[in-house]
Amino acid sequence: MTPGVAGTPRIVVLTGAGISAESGVPTFRDAGGLWEGHRVEDVATPEAFELDPDTVQRFYDARRRAVASVAPNPAHAALAGLERELGDDLLVVTQNIDDLHERAGSTRVLHMHGELGRVRCVACESRSDAPGDLLPGPACANCGERMLRPDVVWFGEMPYGLDEIDVALAACEAFVAIGTSGAVYPAAGFVLTASAFGAETLELNLAESEITPFFAESRLGPASLLVPAWVDEVLGRRR
Ligand code: APR
Repeated sequence: MTPGVAGTPRIVVLTGAGISAESGVPTFRDAGGLWEGHRVEDVATPEAFELDPDTVQRFYDARRRAVASVAPNPAHAALAGLERELGDDLLVVTQNIDDLHERAGSTRVLHMHGELGRVRCVACESRSDAPGDLLPGPACANCGERMLRPDVVWFGEMPYGLDEIDVALAACEAFVAIGTSGAVYPAAGFVLTASAFGAETLELNLAESEITPFFAESRLGPASLLVPAWVDEVLGRRR
């Protein structure tokens, strides 16, 4: 996450696992509540980490390696292109812990659920770039303890940047959610906040989500097609 990135943009885009699906990153809920064969509660809670840190580390190490081997798709590229035109008037808030937005060229990205590529030291709380695999356990560059954990937000933990996001949602003219099921709060409630403050709301998703009824407009289809088409619309381009 880049602190202070949010400001008061005209457009806030919220992305979820669906935007990375066509890059080959599995979504969370499309496989019957399993996350690559693991129950989410077994790998994404502080309790799971306390009980069995090696399993949790192994899981995130595998995901970090998997994400390194895939590439951004046209949906990520279209949002990076939109940022090149709009600058500070666009903010991407992502629930994704991959770095595909950045690799496509986006710079104004707020990772509310943390980042696979970052680590946090349980001993001294310092945060830094991941030095590669966290198993068997590299030492913290700051305090020397071998207590690094992925800098991702687990269930029961506070997402990053919520104050900044609230300011952006209250200020924006348009709120667009891409590829998110609306199953996890507070992100699922952003559409209500934005529309309460008068923003137009649009959902782009492969299928109807739990929050579809809250949007003024919902378009169904793959992100790799819907997002470039929407960006063209915003920029007044013809296809
Ligand atoms: N294009 C557009 N949308 C898609 C595509 C696609 N190609 N493929 C799947 N989707 C949609 C699905 O229809 C679904 O609504 O993406 C959504 C994925 O939903 P989830 O797997 O629940 O992912 P997400 O909403 O990002 O999950 C939120 O839950 O487990 C936590 O912290 C984790 O950030 C995650 C949060």
